[in-house]
Amino acid sequence: MAVRINPSILSADFANLETEFGRIANADLAHVDVMDNHFVPNLTLGLPVVARLQEISPIPLDVHLMIDDPDRWAPAYAETGAYSVTFHAEAAADPVKVARSLRERGARAGIALKPGTSAEPFLELLPEFDMVLVMTVEPGFGGQSFMSSTMPKLNTLSSAVRASGLDVWLQVDGGINDDTIAIAADAGADTFVAGSSVFGAESASAQIEKLRALAGEHTH
Ligand code: DX5
Ligand code: ZN
Repeated sequence: MAVRINPSILSADFANLETEFGRIANADLAHVDVMDNHFVPNLTLGLPVVARLQEISPIPLDVHLMIDDPDRWAPAYAETGAYSVTFHAEAAADPVKVARSLRERGARAGIALKPGTSAEPFLELLPEFDMVLVMTVEPGFGGQSFMSSTMPKLNTLSSAVRASGLDVWLQVDGGINDDTIAIAADAGADTFVAGSSVFGAESASAQIEKLRALAGEHTH
């Protein structure tokens, strides 16, 4: 199974983003965390910055929207040309409608679940999504500890995706590092977001390859 490593630029130097994107050119996608200070208690960047990052990034963008009312705001992120746009289940009034509007605009449609959000209501909706993001920390900040309590949910989703035969990626985000990536891979993740572990490394590119190798040993 393919393994994808998506560094989160939340841990990058925000004053030198073009240089920072150059450090992760061997990654699969660049994970961009959009926070609105309402859905999560933190504020990062918005549409004009994502549109510009799209132009300078050597790799496709994986946009993670931690915002209220994705029904209203998510489609415009797809229009920037982002390869993947993920919104939160807890924030969306009509998740299927949002996902369809993302696909219509040429993006992969992802749905994110906070640690306390059950996967069950979404299992029958899997054909509507290209990715499910299982948050492995409470969204809002980088550098938090991986919550292994979310692994049963990942197992459930992995079984459902396999049974369906669909090409739905399973992403984990939060606390992914040399010690935890194998746990998430064993539970069925194939797409790994890593912020502090990649940008905190002396060589981000070497750390990406290390994580890719560790995950590859554990995907099944
Ligand atoms: C957290 C963000 C993550 C964050 C991960 O809400 O969605 O993408 O950057 O950072 P690390 O890998 O440091 O936990
Ligand atoms: Zn994220």
